[in-house]
Amino acid sequence: MTKNRNLKLSNRPSQAFETRRPSDYLLRAAGSTAGQAYKSLAIERLGIEEGDAVLDLGCGTGGDLGPLLSSIGSTGSVIGVDVDATALEVAHEQYADPRLRLTVGDAHALELDSFSIDRVYVDRTMQHVAAATTVLDEVRRVLRPGGRVLLAEPDWRTLLIDHPEPDLSEAYRQFVVGQVIRNARIGSELPRLVQNADLELESVSPVTVTYTDAIDADRIFGFARVTHRAVKAGYLTPDQASRWLGHLEGPVFFASLTIFVTAARKAG
Ligand SMILES: C[S@@+](CC[C@H](N)C(=O)[O-])C[C@H]1O[C@@H](n2cnc3c(N)ncnc32)[C@H](O)[C@@H]1O
Repeated sequence: MTKNRNLKLSNRPSQAFETRRPSDYLLRAAGSTAGQAYKSLAIERLGIEEGDAVLDLGCGTGGDLGPLLSSIGSTGSVIGVDVDATALEVAHEQYADPRLRLTVGDAHALELDSFSIDRVYVDRTMQHVAAATTVLDEVRRVLRPGGRVLLAEPDWRTLLIDHPEPDLSEAYRQFVVGQVIRNARIGSELPRLVQNADLELESVSPVTVTYTDAIDADRIFGFARVTHRAVKAGYLTPDQASRWLGHLEGPVFFASLTIFVTAARKAG
């Protein structure tokens, strides 16, 4: 556990945390040790076989492309799709692999043939999309019969951040759920949504990711930025925000968030 005792407490929010989203945010978030437990389970549950065509939907900067590429053998292929061209450029710089294709695209309207994909990997993309049901219909369309989709998504109502004033944690969580993440409840909604999309639910495993290092957690949560927005939206007063961040910057820290690792299959 990293102690943050050397971080200077301040009345101004915030000296310890990032105040603007850093450009390499996704890469750093993907590399955070806290996330590795659910990611390794998710890739295992995807059950990739040699020769498979795998789609990484919302691949971002490509943190998961390495494990996917190492599972497909010499005859398989991986397609990384994301709306964010800048993130894809970062992914592109990391891999020179003829089995990999990276393409800018929208999960709601994939430029892929029907029945062309064996496995679809979706890691924290559904929480952001405009229409989750449309995306799941697209996933079903591109999957071959018997193919599998693996979705790893949080339910942000499970966000717990320890603070001596629990009301501040609650206000912050309510702001994140209500105003920050578009589909904040998606993790626990997936079992219903995949079955409504005519996919067979195979398994759901909640994995709770814990953070004991505030700076590590800040890479995912962006405490200063989100707190600033919470003040503007009236969820916290400036004084409360100062006390909230002041404690988070202190010597001990604990937060957790549950990610639902959900596997579903297209009938074969
Ligand atoms: C939290 S990031 C996760 C990235 C990556 N899957 C990972 O685990 O590191 C969510 C990603 O979804 C992408 N995304 C959001 N909406 C999308 C859409 N409609 N179509 C494709 N990608 C989308 C974002 O650009 C972003 O890269």
